[in-house]
Amino acid sequence: MKKLWGGRFTEAAEAWVEEFGASISFDQELVLEDIEGSLAHVTMLGKCGILPAEDVAKIKEGLQALLEKAQKDELTFAIENEDVHLNLEKMLIEEIGEVGGKLHTARSRNDQVATDMHLYLRKEVKDMIQKVKQVQKALVEQAEQNVETIMPGYTHLQRAQPVSFAHHLLAYFWMLERDAERYEDSLKRINISPLGAGALAGTTFPIDRSYSASLLGFDGIYENSMDAVSDRDFILEFLSNSSILMMHLSRFCEELIMWSSQEFQFIEMSDKYSTGSSIMPQKKNPDMAELIRGKTGRVYGNLFSLLTVMKGLPLAYNKDLQEDKEGMFDTVKTIKTSLLVMAGMIETMKVNKDKMGQAVKQDFSNATEIADYLAAKGLPFRQAHEIVGRLVLLCIEKGIYLLDLPLETYQEICPLFEEDLYAVLSPYAAVQRRNSAGGTGFAQVEAALQKANAVLKQNV
Ligand code: ARG
Repeated sequence: MKKLWGGRFTEAAEAWVEEFGASISFDQELVLEDIEGSLAHVTMLGKCGILPAEDVAKIKEGLQALLEKAQKDELTFAIENEDVHLNLEKMLIEEIGEVGGKLHTARSRNDQVATDMHLYLRKEVKDMIQKVKQVQKALVEQAEQNVETIMPGYTHLQRAQPVSFAHHLLAYFWMLERDAERYEDSLKRINISPLGAGALAGTTFPIDRSYSASLLGFDGIYENSMDAVSDRDFILEFLSNSSILMMHLSRFCEELIMWSSQEFQFIEMSDKYSTGSSIMPQKKNPDMAELIRGKTGRVYGNLFSLLTVMKGLPLAYNKDLQEDKEGMFDTVKTIKTSLLVMAGMIETMKVNKDKMGQAVKQDFSNATEIADYLAAKGLPFRQAHEIVGRLVLLCIEKGIYLLDLPLETYQEICPLFEEDLYAVLSPYAAVQRRNSAGGTGFAQVEAALQKANAVLKQNV
């Protein structure tokens, strides 16, 4: 088959080599963006008097026909036509005749493909921000039900201090808020137009780049044509923002997995997001949470593969850049599904408030309360810490907890202890009294929920 670029060639590549070089199997994902870009380009060619109006009208008609077919999934792509750009150009010529060959005036596939990806990511990143918001909303709703649900807070995965479960959930709300902000900020760099940069050096035709940019809804144009066609920072930034987001989801999934284990029993995942074992009838596995944790690996992988593709590339376009796409598409798909699954898991999980409550009663996570109690009575905190350490050791030897020790024992160790000690020892009091800004105290958590709700309203 004759190539659109075949003029200077006398020999054809073997089919398998052709297949190796082709990107149509995956870049057909960009079909709508490619047509949209072409429509803007040809409109600009008309406006600048580069193509006569009747040619422009014909080309637009043809592109419109292709667009309709693409929307109905009726286009058939061929490997021999290499990529989405050449496939569409060929189809256009078939549709409207030789005049279709004028579309590529003052354009190269290099600025064309870059334009497609800017358009694609703009759309997807906006959608992703909305999906992040859905997870945030699910977190807030679950948190609202659990302000006074007390659970052990951990450091080093050792019980540290009791916290409100809502506070724990809201920690993820704020991580996701930063993720949404990062995506939002990246739109500044995604939403600029490489179109009109040509192959690398610009063009001899009197084009109007700002005009085609504005037709496509871009906020501006790349300043430098060589940068325009070889920049993939915007994709790297997307992959990197997505990696951070996945890391957050993965951490949360790790907790969900732990909490649904027999050892914790803090939550029960809905059947909708769990699976059974083919051999052990009693099993209910948190597969979906595990998968999100696992898929984090592939998103990191996509970031690293593109960083590695880019690191030795001389300016400007190199075919290596074709390798930018599959990881990007894969990341979009992975993130979107992970976010939907995440929101669903949070909405439907059952919180075992009693188990969480029991856990804080059977531990030493109220030890800091006693140290704070003594420090509030004037004892230097370091000495208070030492005294409480001795009390904990004593309890461990006796197989009891701090609340079980009689006042006399406390007083033998330090005369500053009085009856009011027991009031601060309850996990409820421990949480309630942590009323410093951003702390787990109930009043703080209520205020945080209000802020979170306000943030969600702002963004929707
Ligand atoms: N399929 C190519 C890509 O994705 C389009 C650009 C091709 N440009 C070229 N000069 N071969 O990168």
